[in-house]
Amino acid sequence: MQILRNIGALATCRADGGQDDVQLIHNAALIWNGDRIVWAGPADEMPANLGTAVMFDARGGLVIPGLVDCHTHLVFGGWRAGEFAQRCRGTSYQEIALQGGGIASTVRATRAADDTTLVNRARGFLDAMVQLGVTTVECKSGYGLTLNDELRILRDYRALADTGPCRIVPTVLGAHIVPAEFASDRAGYIRMLVDELLPAVAAEKLARFCDVFVEENAFTVEEARGILTAAVRLGLKPKVHADQLRDGGGAALAAEVGALSADHLEHVSDAGIAALKQAGVIAVSLPIASLYLRQQAMPARKLIDAGVPVAVATDFNPGSAPSFHLPFAMTLACTTQMMTPAEVLKGATIYAARAVGRDADLGSLEEGKRADFLLIDADDVDQWLYHLRANACRWTVVGGRTAWKAR
Ligand code: NIG
Ligand code: FE
Repeated sequence: MQILRNIGALATCRADGGQDDVQLIHNAALIWNGDRIVWAGPADEMPANLGTAVMFDARGGLVIPGLVDCHTHLVFGGWRAGEFAQRCRGTSYQEIALQGGGIASTVRATRAADDTTLVNRARGFLDAMVQLGVTTVECKSGYGLTLNDELRILRDYRALADTGPCRIVPTVLGAHIVPAEFASDRAGYIRMLVDELLPAVAAEKLARFCDVFVEENAFTVEEARGILTAAVRLGLKPKVHADQLRDGGGAALAAEVGALSADHLEHVSDAGIAALKQAGVIAVSLPIASLYLRQQAMPARKLIDAGVPVAVATDFNPGSAPSFHLPFAMTLACTTQMMTPAEVLKGATIYAARAVGRDADLGSLEEGKRADFLLIDADDVDQWLYHLRANACRWTVVGGRTAWKAR
C-alpha cells in the first residue's frame, strides 16, 4: 500500500459532470496498491487500518491523472525545419505539399531509416514526454505508405509499448496521403490498404484504430468511407482527420461511420457539430497544429456548448506540429479556443482516454483504475495552465511506479 498525503488539490477528473467539472478535492490523499488506485478523497476521511503503508508527501501540490496524448504521429524519419522557414516567409502548407514536400518528404525519410534508429528516436521523445506528465500516447503510422513500411512502424510501436515508459495506443494511418508511386492509380493504393494492409494489421493485432486524413490532396469523403467501413469489418475503430484546412464534410463522415473521435475540426460546420453530438463522437483539438499552420482555432466553445466532449492533444509530427509538449498545447487551448483550464484538464485526461478507448481503466483517479498520476508544482489547475513553464511536473507515476521524478 502506498499513500500520497498533503495534497493541496486533487482533480479526480471523473467523467460525470460537465467538461469543466474536474471533481476537485482540497486537502486530499491518494492511496494505491500495486498498479491500482485504492482510494482518493479528502484526507480527513482516509480509511483507517490500511496496514503497513509507504508514505509520500505532496507538500500542498496539485495531483491529477496522468496526461493522455490522444493524437500523435510519433515515429517518423527526419525533420522539416526548412519547410517551417518557408512557411514563415508566406508559402502555405498545401503549396509545399504540391511541390513534393510536406508529408511526402517525411515518407521518403522514414522509408530510408532503419527500425533501430526510428525506435530509439521515438523512445527519446517518450522519455521527454513522461517528464512533462504524459503517461499514455496514441501513436499513428502513416509515414511508411507501403505494406511493409506501415507494418514496420506499427511493430516499432509494439516494441515501444513493451519497453515503456508510456502506455502506447497504436493507430494505422495508411490513408495519410496517396504515395507518389500511386499518383496515377489512387484506386490501386486504396485496394492495397483494404485488401492487404488492414487485414494484416488486424491479424497481427498491430492497431486498435484506423485513421484517414480527409482533405484536398489527401482522401475524399467517399474514399475514406470505403477504407473506414473495411476497417470496421476487421474490428478496427475509426478515427478521422477532419475539416482541418477547410470544411470537407469530415465530421459528418466521422459520425456516419461511428468514429470514436474526429480530430482537428478547425473548419467544422454547424451541421458537422450536430452530427458529432448526435453520434457521440469526441472532438480532438490540436492547437499546436493550428498555431504552426496559422489556422483559425477549432470552435471548441461551440462544440462544448453543443454537448460534444473536446479532448486536447499535441498532434506531434515533423510538419504541422513539431512539439510533444502537451501542457503547452493545453495552455494554447485555453487562450486560442476559449476553453477554461478545468475544461482543458478533462480534455487531456478522461476525455482523451475515452478518445483512445481506455477510459475504463485510465484518465481519472478513482478506485480500481490504474495508478497513473502526476504531482504538479502549482496550487490549482488555473495557476498551472496560466503560468507557462518549461515543466511544472515534479513526479510522474505510471501503473503505481515512478516513471520520472524531479530532482
Ligand atoms: O495531423 N493532417 C495530416 N497529418 C498531420 C500532418 C502531417 C505532416 O505534416 O507531416 C496532421 O497535421
Ligand atoms: Fe495528425
